[in-house]
Amino acid sequence: MIQVRRWLRDAEDVVVLTGAGMSAESGIPTFRGASGLWKHFRAEELATPQAFASQPNLVWEWYNWRRELIAEAKPHAGHRALALMEERVPHFTLVTQNVDGLDAVAGIRNVLKLHGDIWQTICTRCGERRENREVPISSLPPHCQCHPDALLRPGVVWFGEALPAEEWDLAVDAVENAELLLVVGTSAVVYPASSLITLGIRNGAHTVEINPHSTPLSDEMDLHLAGAAAELLPAIASALEPEA
Ligand code: OAD
Repeated sequence: MIQVRRWLRDAEDVVVLTGAGMSAESGIPTFRGASGLWKHFRAEELATPQAFASQPNLVWEWYNWRRELIAEAKPHAGHRALALMEERVPHFTLVTQNVDGLDAVAGIRNVLKLHGDIWQTICTRCGERRENREVPISSLPPHCQCHPDALLRPGVVWFGEALPAEEWDLAVDAVENAELLLVVGTSAVVYPASSLITLGIRNGAHTVEINPHSTPLSDEMDLHLAGAAAELLPAIASALEPEA
């Protein structure tokens, strides 16, 4: 802990990579692990373009349920700690695999969303991306105004789909420049997001994992802090408080 606080105080460029564990203490279930979503739901039936093509209502019902959970969730002390880091560190980038938008609610501005945004829809015909905050979306599946047959899909990245190119390029740039890379609440098994961790290691960033459990990349990082985001991030970020 002393070491990471020192690295944070000395760094001009900090990148934080988050996964579902970052939102766990806000009440949003993770994907993997004992009570993870993929224990109860089959990813290929819900989070693929093929699933949406064959059962759009089923997919939307699942996203409606997640939107209801997320709408009730509030950022926790860990999100607020990241907002403090952004305020105090010269170059701060949050790269997230999360689609819940809690980072923005906590006031974090420089957020790269690798897996999209659950509060957006994309038209499968005209491609328009729009904000949609209706909870739950009442008439399923929702349609676009561009054509009577045009379905709207959730604005998230599904298995088998490419990541948004601009976000990805900016994330790679940020990690290449990072002096400190904090990896919070991700199982580090979903590619290509996980490759940002190896990129940071290769580029000589100090790499610190914050996760109650080990991941396949734990041993390659400089430090593994075994604990929860809402507890450890405030303890780290307080190094930036004037009196610290
Ligand atoms: P996972 O569900 O795979 O992993 C969550 C990680 O968070 C696990 O390693 C937990 O140990 C850790 N964790 C749990 N509670 C925590 C806490 N309070 N503080 C810190 N860590 C905690 O989630 P991701 O790695 O984000 O993609 O999963 C990556 C992608 O796989 C997701 O974006 C999603 C999923 O399928 C798509 O839907 C495309």
